[in-house]
Amino acid sequence: MNQAAEKIYFNPWDPTFRANPYPHYRPLLAGGPRIIDMGFKFALVARHADVRAVLTDHGSFSNVQPAGFAFDLQAKALGDAPSMLGSDPPTQTRLRRLVSRDFTPRRIRELEPRIREIAKNLIDAAERKGEFEVMADLATPLPVMVISELLGVPPDEYRQFKSWSDKIVEALNTVPGAPMPEDISNAFNQLIEYFAGQIERRRKNPGTDLVSALVAAHDEAEALSAGELMQFLMLLLLAGNETTTNLIGNGMLALGRNPDAMAALRSRPELIGGAIDEMLRYDGPVQATFRTAKKDVEIGGTPISAGTGVFVIVAAANRDPAQFKDPEKFDITREPNEHIAFGEGVHYCIGSTLARLEGSIAINAALERFPNLRLKNPDAAVNYKDSYFLRGLSHLEMAVK
Ligand code: HEM
Repeated sequence: MNQAAEKIYFNPWDPTFRANPYPHYRPLLAGGPRIIDMGFKFALVARHADVRAVLTDHGSFSNVQPAGFAFDLQAKALGDAPSMLGSDPPTQTRLRRLVSRDFTPRRIRELEPRIREIAKNLIDAAERKGEFEVMADLATPLPVMVISELLGVPPDEYRQFKSWSDKIVEALNTVPGAPMPEDISNAFNQLIEYFAGQIERRRKNPGTDLVSALVAAHDEAEALSAGELMQFLMLLLLAGNETTTNLIGNGMLALGRNPDAMAALRSRPELIGGAIDEMLRYDGPVQATFRTAKKDVEIGGTPISAGTGVFVIVAAANRDPAQFKDPEKFDITREPNEHIAFGEGVHYCIGSTLARLEGSIAINAALERFPNLRLKNPDAAVNYKDSYFLRGLSHLEMAVK
């Protein structure tokens, strides 16, 4: 195939591109990584095998944010403490080991009854209204209420918490190198101050929540420094909320557009595990992640030189025809389904169990409660929030009667 003849368009800052990036992935999937020039040189990595090759090679590809990128400022505000997602082994290994002791599958499973209760209460409220706007009524509040529970944040403070987190997520949309807008840096500072207060409270008065456990975390001579602990709390909030919100929203949209799949899931709720995997594959909340080449390296036949920024497009890989039969088809019984919506390698999503649990409970609860659930305006265009990396709807009206 003559790669040069293929027309490539990739611009995460273009709202039209963001509204539907999938057609733009097709030419990228026809060959190895392409190098484009957007002021800086970037490599676009799309094929499933190439994406896996990059994500599993942390010796060649770094997760450290280049100077001037969105979360640089956050690191500065925290005395340059590293975050797990923004560091490489061995620093990342150490941070992940320290938090994994307390962020355990058991702690997540213990949350299940509470997640059910939160989902039930939210759906009760929608039922009373007689209207169901999936994002505001269920997908947005649920994950932040669950994280608040996990962190031991009083439930009535979650709205404030969420508004800071939404603001900070906007930093991902800023053009690299551009100054951080003041409202975003204010939100950073307020959230840092808030967490500092929470940490102090737990030091004096430990409870059974995750923050208390992390405050006490120690690893022989090692402990999480104050800045590292703060980085992890911010990461949980930022990596764990918007993503799960968008899993529920994008998943409900896919079901609404595929009524047969919705009917099958309603009659056999036990299909939810496979359905969630297909939602993650078909229209995942994370479109792409980012790496910087540490040395000259070749991926899928394309030389990538040291210093090049790499867009690792997991959502494109999840539609790769070399990996998935009928990749454009939404099939909740797809088997096997080796999507990489949660990444791969050392940075593989630490919250995948929690995200699956929340998504399964929320979606099955909505289907069970509303037997006539369907898209309110099936032919209308849907609107997405302003982020390419984190793909999610701003609204999704569904009819319930
Ligand atoms: C459907 C929801 C979610 C999706 C699609 C998702 C996706 C991802 C992906 C793709 C990565 C790897 C990024 C990279 O390699 O650059 C990642 C890492 C991470 N995720 Fe998630 N995530 C989700 C939910 C969550 C939740 C609920 C939490 C926590 C409460 C969480 C916490 C994290 C953390 C801490 C990392 C960094 C791990 C490390 O660097 O070692 N995520 N996630």
